[in-house]
Amino acid sequence: MVEQIEIPRSFPRGAEVTGKRVVITGASRGLGALLAHAFSQAGASVSLVARTERDLKSVAESLPGPSLWLSGDVTDEDFNEVVADATVAEWGGVDVWIANAGISPIVAGPRATDPSVWRKVLEVNLTGAFLGARAAARVMGEGGRLIFTGSVLGERPREGLTAYSASKAGLVGMAKGLALDLAPAGITVNVVAPGWFDSPLADAWKNNAELAAGIVGHTAQRRWGASTDLAGAYQFLASDASSFVTGTVLNVDGGYLLV
Ligand SMILES: NC(=O)c1ccc[n+]([C@@H]2O[C@H](COP(=O)([O-])OP(=O)(O)OC[C@H]3O[C@@H](n4cnc5c(N)ncnc54)[C@H](OP(=O)(O)O)[C@@H]3O)[C@@H](O)[C@H]2O)c1
Repeated sequence: MVEQIEIPRSFPRGAEVTGKRVVITGASRGLGALLAHAFSQAGASVSLVARTERDLKSVAESLPGPSLWLSGDVTDEDFNEVVADATVAEWGGVDVWIANAGISPIVAGPRATDPSVWRKVLEVNLTGAFLGARAAARVMGEGGRLIFTGSVLGERPREGLTAYSASKAGLVGMAKGLALDLAPAGITVNVVAPGWFDSPLADAWKNNAELAAGIVGHTAQRRWGASTDLAGAYQFLASDASSFVTGTVLNVDGGYLLV
């Protein structure tokens, strides 16, 4: 007789995040605001983080579920700890931390790139995510989830964006290292790498016909990412369904890296 695998009475749904307590950095606009809505609509409680109070407040007011907002800079170590503590004080814990805040100044080649620009990009995109992960790991229990917003440019750079590409490639190495470090604590660490989505950060590309055509031409699905395309990947990585997934990169790019 063939030995049968034990079938559980129920499977977690792929994107089930009801009741999760989720910190989202960079939540005042763009992709972070989109994620805030998606998680809130799915029944999560969300802590919204960015520097601009007014924008955070307006996102918080438009959400259907519980939220709190904390304005500050993700490059500030103490601020990250405050976010962790405030979320615990409000909801009793942190289940998911999405380090999504990022900047992408368009610069020229290395000769024209001021070292201060290089430092700033690395500081926000990479160090900011590390400081968030550090604060999250302090307060998270078994089953915690760290998710970093990477980028396809971390794997395939474009001219003039070397600092940005380096920061996003760095997130992948950091996620893999943290996945090892935090596995004993039951915390998974993964990267979602979006392709090209319509958001304020992508304005300069979108508004330049030649660049925009190049982007669409390099995307297998021949279109920009739509607002419904992104959150499912984060919700899978935030859900109980992904408990054996760690140290990975999930590209959500319409096949940009294939073309
Ligand atoms: N849009 C795309 O096509 C695309 C593609 C791949 C990856 N991404 C990545 O997705 C993430 C979000 O990008 P987006 O397109 O939504 O950009 P966005 O519209 O410019 O939003 C960036 C968010 O990060 C916050 N932020 C920036 N610096 C911060 C800091 N030092 N401390 C705290 N918050 C800070 C901003 O709020 P404040 O200015 O108020 O602080 C804002 O909420 C970024 O990591 C980006 O690299 C975007």
